[in-house]
Amino acid sequence: MRVYFDYNATTPLAPGVVDAVIAATRDLFGNPSSVHYYGQQAKAALDEARSAVAALIGAEPSEVVFTAGGTESDNFAIRGAAETLEQTGRRHLIASAIEHEAVLNTLKALARRGWRTTLLPVDQTGIVSPDRVRELITDDTAIVSVMHANNEIGTIQPIAELAAMAHAHGALMHTDAVQSTGKIPVDVRALGVDLLSLSAHKFNGPKGTGALWIKRGTRMQPLLTGGKHERNRRAGTENVPAIIGMGAAARLAAAKMIEEGRRVEALRNRLEDAILRTIPGTAVNGARQPRVPNTTNISFDRVEAESLLIALDLEGIAVSTGSACSSGTLEPSHVLRAMGLPPHRTQNSLRFSLGMYSTQEEVDRVIDVLPRLVEKLRGLTRKAAPV
Ligand SMILES: Cc1ncc(COP(=O)(O)O)c(C=O)c1O
Repeated sequence: MRVYFDYNATTPLAPGVVDAVIAATRDLFGNPSSVHYYGQQAKAALDEARSAVAALIGAEPSEVVFTAGGTESDNFAIRGAAETLEQTGRRHLIASAIEHEAVLNTLKALARRGWRTTLLPVDQTGIVSPDRVRELITDDTAIVSVMHANNEIGTIQPIAELAAMAHAHGALMHTDAVQSTGKIPVDVRALGVDLLSLSAHKFNGPKGTGALWIKRGTRMQPLLTGGKHERNRRAGTENVPAIIGMGAAARLAAAKMIEEGRRVEALRNRLEDAILRTIPGTAVNGARQPRVPNTTNISFDRVEAESLLIALDLEGIAVSTGSACSSGTLEPSHVLRAMGLPPHRTQNSLRFSLGMYSTQEEVDRVIDVLPRLVEKLRGLTRKAAPV
């Protein structure tokens, strides 16, 4: 039995999405910018997908710009707005210290071009405090960027409150909603943001496609220079089959989110409770609420996370030590470090993220295997330790 509990890294395609992508690849080869029949067929399908994505986040279709995924959306949001706001003399950017690298490294790149950047600290809850924003925001701040849900620990941030604060200082509010879209209700108006990033492969759609929601009236400099695609906001012929797949995934997520959320949350809680109960020296990292329903991040005292990850993989169980981008290195997670967790927790933590195809049998398989593996690895650590 193989178990995939790494849905925050990426998700398998939903039933229906594969068919939609295949059919579009085969039948809709026209360029959506072409005026003839073939182009207009593709354009109509693209517009349907745009409406589905807009409906999932409570937006107008015309505000949705298709991109090549979450990373591009984050880059576009921050660089596109920064380049426009630079002209107003604003030169300060704020983001939380637990953002994805797509945001953090974009801030670093802008810092090299003279922007002042501030990272908002978080405490052990893994939630940004609006008080910190109040202290650090100035009338020079151009953009505040705080993710909706964290990819490593799943905590949900108080975006509406942060957005109100950003606006009170004349700044724009961006949220990276890559890990919340499709998992919990996301409503751009209720969040009160100006820019929102999402990525299809995190909600059972294809990889390499996503969207940036740009509130109507927000002035943005495009990232790419080229043709007039996407209303002059994102040059390049659209990836029609992938976008149609994203539309299908968005429709499915909208229809099933609440019911699926409850189901997955019960499985996540079953797993989490059993681990805490049966394995001594375990703790959940970050606040358990508010949190997306599919994620838990747990530290295992005296067990090196990479060793446990490999031991689980040998048993056919796929989990993660944090963000996929930093795996393969032994760098402890920047999120857990920013939360102020001690090294024995930042280096000993695993993320379990569940989703559409997760079952109780899979949870029980992990609960069955994990205590034995932890005990074995702890035994090895004891033997290796000098007496
Ligand atoms: C919070 C967050 N933002 C952005 C990204 C990047 O998205 P993509 O893989 O579509 O570029 C990820 C992916 O791990 C993510 O978790």
